[in-house]
Amino acid sequence: MSRQRRAGAAIIVTGAAGGIGGGITRRLMADGWRVVATDLSADSLAALRRDGDDRLVTTTLDVARADDVGNVAAKLAGDGIAVAGLVNAAGLLQDVASFMAMDEMAQRRIWDVNYFGAVACTRVFAPMMSAAGGGAIVNITSINALRPLPLHAYAPTKVALGALTTLTAGELGRAGIRVNAIAPGFTLTPILRDKIASGKRDIGAIEKATAMGRLVEIDEIASVASFLMSDDASAVTGASIPVDAGWLTTSHWMNFGDLLGV
Ligand SMILES: NC(=O)c1ccc[n+]([C@@H]2O[C@H](COP(=O)([O-])OP(=O)(O)OC[C@H]3O[C@@H](n4cnc5c(N)ncnc54)[C@H](O)[C@@H]3O)[C@@H](O)[C@H]2O)c1
Repeated sequence: MSRQRRAGAAIIVTGAAGGIGGGITRRLMADGWRVVATDLSADSLAALRRDGDDRLVTTTLDVARADDVGNVAAKLAGDGIAVAGLVNAAGLLQDVASFMAMDEMAQRRIWDVNYFGAVACTRVFAPMMSAAGGGAIVNITSINALRPLPLHAYAPTKVALGALTTLTAGELGRAGIRVNAIAPGFTLTPILRDKIASGKRDIGAIEKATAMGRLVEIDEIASVASFLMSDDASAVTGASIPVDAGWLTTSHWMNFGDLLGV
């Protein structure tokens, strides 16, 4: 177990009430980390609580408001909670919409959360990590960061978050901070299940497009986050790891006929 983990330093998780953020929070707690789980509402975080577990701190945090991020950091510092890591999992998804028909305010809102939220959290929590002897940041991007889908607001935010990952990895390395990204493929979170159920995503087409013939489970994202937070990843920084059941590998193969046998 790392020195920081033993000392009770915490990992901040944004969007912790969500499917992926919640899965990562549970996994990091199981790994022995103290976790500060944050999201828009306190009620949404209640499900993460287990009686008698003092390793979980929950607090509301709107990542789109830099002042809110600063207030949470000041509260943690006031409570004597050192910061060892940050998982930027807060995100807004979108439905498929034409570029020309896109609502500009909705588009800006997606940037404010998906990109500027990670910027604000990194700027505020990285110095706290550095003060605690270093740390690790994991940005949750998407396969859209590597091959944009027709999600004209969402996809560019994820490309930008991927770039931010390498830029901050470069700048923060000598402060002892590693920065990496996980690029999830179609992951069976409640929000994706809803989109499948309402016909907004075609599960059969997604399964056909992946090398492994399936979608991704939340725990499969959480285990990679666990690795990137751990000392096992001590020389890994600036990396973007797709966890996509091989969607990036084979989604374009269908142009060549039935090579996957489906
Ligand atoms: N589910 C997928 O297939 C998939 C694929 C690729 C990437 N992702 C990314 O994974 C992350 C989590 O997605 P998810 O599927 O778990 O979705 P989700 O909607 O379950 O979780 C997102 C969480 O972010 C929170 N959030 C939204 N705006 C916020 C704000 N301003 N401040 C703080 N929190 C805010 C929401 O309340 C929610 O709890 C997102 O960044 C998403 O883009 C998801």
